[in-house]
Amino acid sequence: MEQYDVVVIGAGAAGMFCAAQAGQGGCKVLLLDNGKKLGRKILMSGGGRCNFTNMHTEPAAYLSENPHFCKSALARYTQWDFIDLVNRYGIAWHEKTLGQLFCDDSAQQIVSLLEQECQKGKVTFRLRSEISAVEKTEQGYAIQVNGQEVSTRSLVVASGGLSMPGLGASPFGYRLAEQFGLKVLPTRAGLVPFTLHKPLLEHLQTLSGVSVPAVMTAADGTVFRESILFTHRGLSGPAVLQLSSYWQPGEFVSVNLLPNLDLSAFLNQQRQDHPNQSLKNTLSLHLPKRLVECLQTLGQLPEVTLKQLNVPQQAALIEQLQNWQVQPNGTEGYRTAEVTLGGVDTRALSSKTMGANAVPGLYFIGEVVDVTGWLGGYNFQWAWSSAWACAQDL
Ligand code: FDA
Repeated sequence: MEQYDVVVIGAGAAGMFCAAQAGQGGCKVLLLDNGKKLGRKILMSGGGRCNFTNMHTEPAAYLSENPHFCKSALARYTQWDFIDLVNRYGIAWHEKTLGQLFCDDSAQQIVSLLEQECQKGKVTFRLRSEISAVEKTEQGYAIQVNGQEVSTRSLVVASGGLSMPGLGASPFGYRLAEQFGLKVLPTRAGLVPFTLHKPLLEHLQTLSGVSVPAVMTAADGTVFRESILFTHRGLSGPAVLQLSSYWQPGEFVSVNLLPNLDLSAFLNQQRQDHPNQSLKNTLSLHLPKRLVECLQTLGQLPEVTLKQLNVPQQAALIEQLQNWQVQPNGTEGYRTAEVTLGGVDTRALSSKTMGANAVPGLYFIGEVVDVTGWLGGYNFQWAWSSAWACAQDL
């Protein structure tokens, strides 16, 4: 029987980084994955350029039923630590917006970095690994992999969430947690586009591809100021993805389509200067023409000139454009979601080591845990930080 100090299940961001750190710390490490390739999500991430961290990483950018849990790991292995590692590998990067750091060249560079870090730690990789059983033994754990038994002192579960099943996502980590008596909080898709009810969708479909800066507000008051994108299925774009993590079925969201404009003052001024100008042409000065036309067919925009626009109409228009109430039909689900909310309940884990308090030698890191970041590099930073914290204990 093969024997290891540490077996890591899942060769994604968290698993590879943890395996590398544990190996470099002197452990004999085996890294298992059910896929054909290492770091598949990393390769897909950030449009192929991997948004590997965010300069503004802070605990407030994470959702969890236990919001304090992420603090320790994020403070001990920070965004600056990972940037330092990226720099040591000579990987050129840039800030795209809002502190989001991307590779100049390709996400493959981050996977190569992790592979080299694993090689430094003499980590054994095994891809296409089907794990059929995990049992607790006196010395640690016995794992059945592709019909063979592997034994290990410590077991690290880094099998991720349910988003993008095409990239190997599976509920493996949740089932394993339950097998060992840990609670798993209900999961749902996060950072995911909204779908819309048919009547609204039919109107908005003509806008497919149109993007506008917006401020979106969730029912709980959470606000994001980024752009939204109209698609043939509904609404997407950074503001929508961010808000989706805070949205519950049935709730309305508020969209301000003119977040940088005092619309009332603008309309009053335009009315003075160009009383015979149509409302449609006036609004087209600040909104894409297609959007204005669509609002007109939706009946949300009176077909009037500015001098004809009366006070109640103006008030209704301002409400419509700056506090547009949209009730999503749902989300596109795990098929396109970037992350999975919920997961292994952190109240059963040590925030210092990621170890299960009641099950010695068993650890959960990365997305499988109930810690989910905003869009913008926060999820990879959680993967690096939780992996590092865990590796210090192995
Ligand atoms: P991850 O999902 O990366 O890895 C889990 C691994 O476990 C996979 O390799 C899987 O094959 C393996 N596995 C699952 N079940 C198994 C089983 N039963 N047996 C063996 N192996 C198993 N975040 C960010 O910060 N910046 C970004 O730019 C992006 N971009 C992005 C784009 C897209 C398209 C997606 C889907 C997601 C992102 N994300 C992101 C989110 C980010 O990819 C995600 O949070 C991390 O990859 C999570 O890392 P983990 O290592 O925890 O899981």
